[in-house]
Amino acid sequence: MKISPSIISSKLEVLGEEIEKCDKAGADSYHLDVMDGHFVPNLTMGPDLISAVRRKTKKRLESHLMIDRPDRYYKSFVEAGSDILLIHAECLVNFKKLRKDIADSGAEFGIVINPETPLSEALPLLPESRILLLMSVHPGFSGQKFIASTVDKIREARSYIDRNGLDTEIEVDGGINDKTGKLCVDAGADILVSASYIFSGNIHERIGILKNLKQD
Ligand code: DX5
Ligand code: ZN
Repeated sequence: MKISPSIISSKLEVLGEEIEKCDKAGADSYHLDVMDGHFVPNLTMGPDLISAVRRKTKKRLESHLMIDRPDRYYKSFVEAGSDILLIHAECLVNFKKLRKDIADSGAEFGIVINPETPLSEALPLLPESRILLLMSVHPGFSGQKFIASTVDKIREARSYIDRNGLDTEIEVDGGINDKTGKLCVDAGADILVSASYIFSGNIHERIGILKNLKQD
């Protein structure tokens, strides 16, 4: 099981130490929640913070772009050191072109869908997506309650990916803790994002719990 801590809930004044703790606990990547105040009603980080994270860890950096025009800004997130850009299917952009532009600039592409967006909207993009990110809360804030219908979506996505021999990884984002995480793992998720659960407790212990959900 791969775990991707979202630093949105870390103690930003000691971000470096928090990242060291996550690295030691076996975090597989870092999830960077970028919000523009338009696509979602909240503002968070930009490329400068991401390059600071890049200097601190060698793990995969995934930038979750909750912004209106990822086609205008993707380059600065790649230059900041993102390994993969997670792009919402709800954005009004040309996905084939953006996917190619991202690849040409040296990063990978992942597609994201909101809880109310049917899986069918992401399916045509899956063969060219390293990650399918299923939102299990409405994007904008950490600390929200997991939306249970996501579990069916994970199952549906798992069966489509397996049936079609794709290697797209299924990632789930929002309201993940030891209980909801287990539901996602059992339904076929490969990667779990977690912000408030990991950073509101003992980081080492909580990442350990999430990483071991597959065996439990
Ligand atoms: C929501 C973000 C998530 C969120 C996760 O808009 O994309 O990554 O911060 O937070 P938790 O794990 O607290 O639900
Ligand atoms: Zn996210």
